[in-house]
Amino acid sequence: MKIEDYVLSIPDFPEPGIVFRDVTSILQDADGLHLAVDLMQEKLEGIDFDLVVGPESRGFIFGVPIAYNMHKPFIPVRKEGKLPRETVSVEYELEYGTGVLEIHKDAIKPGQRVVIIDDLMATGGTNQAIINLVESLGATVVKTVFLMELKGLKGRDKLVGYDVESIIAYE
Ligand code: PRP
Ligand code: HPA
Repeated sequence: MKIEDYVLSIPDFPEPGIVFRDVTSILQDADGLHLAVDLMQEKLEGIDFDLVVGPESRGFIFGVPIAYNMHKPFIPVRKEGKLPRETVSVEYELEYGTGVLEIHKDAIKPGQRVVIIDDLMATGGTNQAIINLVESLGATVVKTVFLMELKGLKGRDKLVGYDVESIIAYE
């Protein structure tokens, strides 16, 4: 089966008119989970990087196995108030209003090369915010790999100049 075949598309979720691409339908199949992690990890072959960063909560699902397989650290980006040590924060746009993302200040050193892993790009706002956090710590984002990309939301417009790849693109 191709990776696309594992994704269920749910009409009118979370509201009328939205077709929701459901990552859990990949995860609940052992072959789907393997294929998703393997295809994302292949995009990092030959890339020189020091660590993987992934956002709460669906970014953790793919970021951790990839970091584990490639023997790299995994650094979580979390929503405000969850991380216990000193953080840097960034405000980012949500569908309605704004949110705040945080990362531990000591987790990334200046000059390090960072890969971002997440399940899905919609508006690109989350990725842009993570890039902001990483760069504020003096590190460089060398690549982002998404499992899915919703092209219609034009997230790439926010990420011009960065290396962004996705495994499945929906128009
Ligand atoms: C989802 C998804 C991405 C982000 C994409 O996470 O997992 O991280 O939204 O949207 P964007 O490109 O418009 O920023 P969400 O913030 O819903 O959190 P969750 O993973 O905990 O559900
Ligand atoms: N699927 C999963 N997460 C999402 C989607 C979607 O279609 N749109 C915005 N976040």
